Amino acid sequence: MKKNRFVALVLFSIFVWLGINHFIPNDNFIAKPNNYLDENLDDFELRLKIEVETHNLIRENIKQLNYSSHEDSYQFKKHNSSNSSSVAILIIACNRPSISRCINKLLKYRKSKDDFPIIVSQDCIHERTSQVIKSFGRELIHIHQPDQKEIKVPSKEKKFSGYFKISRHYKWALNQVFNTYNYGTAIIVEDDLDVAPDFYEYFKATLPILQKDETLWCVSAWNDNGKFALIDRNDPKLLYRSDFFPGLGWMLTRKIWIELMHKWPHSYWDDWMRHPDQRKGRSCIRPELSRTKTFGKIGVSNGLFYEKHLKYIYLNELPVDFTKLNLTYLLKDEYDTNFVEMVYRAPLVGVNELKNKQIGHSDPVRIIYYTKNNLKSLMKLFGLMDDFKSGVPRTAYKGIISFTYDNRRVYLTPIKEWQNYDPSWQ
Ligand SMILES: *[C@@H]1O[C@H](CO)[C@@H](O)[C@H](O)[C@H]1NC(C)=O
Ligand SMILES: *[C@@H]1O[C@H](CO)[C@@H](O)[C@H](O)[C@H]1NC(C)=O
Ligand SMILES: *[C@@H]1O[C@H](CO)[C@@H](O)[C@H](O)[C@H]1NC(C)=O
Ligand SMILES: *[C@@H]1O[C@H](CO)[C@@H](O)[C@H](O)[C@H]1NC(C)=O
Repeated sequence: MKKNRFVALVLFSIFVWLGINHFIPNDNFIAKPNNYLDENLDDFELRLKIEVETHNLIRENIKQLNYSSHEDSYQFKKHNSSNSSSVAILIIACNRPSISRCINKLLKYRKSKDDFPIIVSQDCIHERTSQVIKSFGRELIHIHQPDQKEIKVPSKEKKFSGYFKISRHYKWALNQVFNTYNYGTAIIVEDDLDVAPDFYEYFKATLPILQKDETLWCVSAWNDNGKFALIDRNDPKLLYRSDFFPGLGWMLTRKIWIELMHKWPHSYWDDWMRHPDQRKGRSCIRPELSRTKTFGKIGVSNGLFYEKHLKYIYLNELPVDFTKLNLTYLLKDEYDTNFVEMVYRAPLVGVNELKNKQIGHSDPVRIIYYTKNNLKSLMKLFGLMDDFKSGVPRTAYKGIISFTYDNRRVYLTPIKEWQNYDPSWQ
């Protein structure tokens, strides 16, 4: 059995090696965005580099195999999910050695290796990053996305080929976590994220809610409107339901993966998830204060986005003992009564009234919107993210957008009779 696996692996590695040698295209071998190499090395140099790194990959695979021949070693223990409460932390890695910063934070706040085993899945062949990951030894499991073939990308999307690789990587890595390692739950973390001190507490406490409520399909650590001026820093306990899939440090269960894996898209997986065909009216839990924050510019195409938005997201610093709180208010029935009623009880005010500080109290207020342009200009005015995905504005729940302005809670709301998002809003 083990011998077979060994032979298979070696053959496979050689195959990958040959494959890579064969498929090197003339330009832009690994076009970003995000993680992917942005250099236009000339052909020869590139071949040489890849050859060397492929050798290293094969060596690593052989080593990994050696580990797996000691089945009792921590690293390759198979989990019996029906009896396991552990939640895998899946780090998506490629070619950024700065992943050490992400891993260091995750290790710093982790109390139990058994409760939160860390799996780093690495795409790309990048020796320096591999070395960094390996230097953490048995604190984590390091796996390699084996399919390094160039992906066939429609010619007009060539410059987005990085998105295709990311999608392929996610699919493979999530299959590993759920179908090979057999975990029941995973939290996906990209390699450029810092986590907050209560990151684990947050997910541990919200997992039972996620499992219980079929109208939820994820828990995210991210608030898309989590900038300093837009949040109540004194309320780190505050959580919401959101119809917008935020990503950026998010938890899903195997059940959801089983549903998605067969139709997983070739690219742009996050927007695909936001499409009604996938979301199916379900929501995510998200915090008022983000529990993740990106620390690096993400490739060239997202540089501007980082400078304009991501950089200003506030990472929570006051740890909350979420597991000691009663979070059942997030269950749909309770939330749709209490939260929605609370929002619509807030007095209606006009934008100018609010902007000119003409409101004689400091309680929450509500501003109503009617049309897409109406909402869009309000979002711009208050410095909120003003894009829509499948008609859903970022952070919205039932069309409601909650934020703070001038230290006051403000809700942008549609009319009370609102039924659903309009996909033509974009
Ligand atoms: C394989 O594992 C054994 C026992 O852990 C170790 O002594 C040996 O050095 C390993 N071999 C390689 C090639 O890593
Ligand atoms: C997992 O554990 C349960 C009991 O908790 C047991 O019934 C089941 O057979 C186990 N499955 C595997 C594959 O070991
Ligand atoms: C299942 O979990 C319980 C409690 O966590 C533990 O006592 C038991 O040994 C576990 N069973 C297996 C088969 O791992
Ligand atoms: C949690 O809060 C709900 C009300 O939101 C209440 O009905 C329930 O009894 C509480 N549970 C506990 C364990 O206190």
